[in-house]
Amino acid sequence: MRPLRLGINIDHVATLRNARGGAHPDPLRAAKIALTAGADGITAHLREDRRHIVDNDIFRLAAMLVARGNPLNFEMAATDEMRRIALKIRPHAACIVPERREERTTEGGLDVAGQRGSLAPFVRALTKAGIRVSLFIAPDVRQLDAAKAVGAPVVELHTGAYAEAPRGARARELNRIVRAARHAEKIGLECHAGHGLDFANVCAIAAIPNIVELNIGHFLVGEAVFAGLESSIRRMRVLMTKARNRTRVATGRKRKTR
Ligand code: PXP
Repeated sequence: MRPLRLGINIDHVATLRNARGGAHPDPLRAAKIALTAGADGITAHLREDRRHIVDNDIFRLAAMLVARGNPLNFEMAATDEMRRIALKIRPHAACIVPERREERTTEGGLDVAGQRGSLAPFVRALTKAGIRVSLFIAPDVRQLDAAKAVGAPVVELHTGAYAEAPRGARARELNRIVRAARHAEKIGLECHAGHGLDFANVCAIAAIPNIVELNIGHFLVGEAVFAGLESSIRRMRVLMTKARNRTRVATGRKRKTR
């Protein structure tokens, strides 16, 4: 079974900094702590309205991560402006997300099936520059097939509906993610997941063997206020690893009894 990577989204460290307009807390310092705590990479979303991460953060972050040899996952909307910036910083990966000014966060997945014509050349341009492109989509087979068709090697499944589902609907939402992750692997897409994950809901997602990376931000930045960033990330890592190991043992048992 493939290992499960953890990407830490540092956007909301910038949200806190911007509340006062100064330089503290610095998202770069958070990124360094995240890597010390065992994160595999750093994710940051440069929004059109620059509500949290700003251009200077992205350029500093990219330089720091290149120097350390850790990957930057650059979250971006499919706009000309963001493509120009991505081609300048050349991050390891770019995750294309839908963006609306009036939303509080990335509320839904990208409608890849409805935007094939514009997304295909967009994905191609980034790929040509050596950037690994992922598309942030709902756990929906139609969107997965469209992601494959536009040439993206990776998808990130939006786990928001699962994370926010009332108890009675949670199993159904989880099942959608399980089926989507299986389908992704079947059609040759690398599968990531993220949004709204916390200590309580991460285990079920980490246990899905077809998912190889989780990207987590808001909960950990909030939790850092109480327990510190490093310790919160370490705890998340432990939970992910335990869930993954349980799947590994269960899969091994199933194979032996066949
Ligand atoms: N993955 C993507 C593509 C995102 O846009 C976000 C932030 O909305 C996350 C992961 C992390 O979500 P959260 O901050 O809820 O953990």
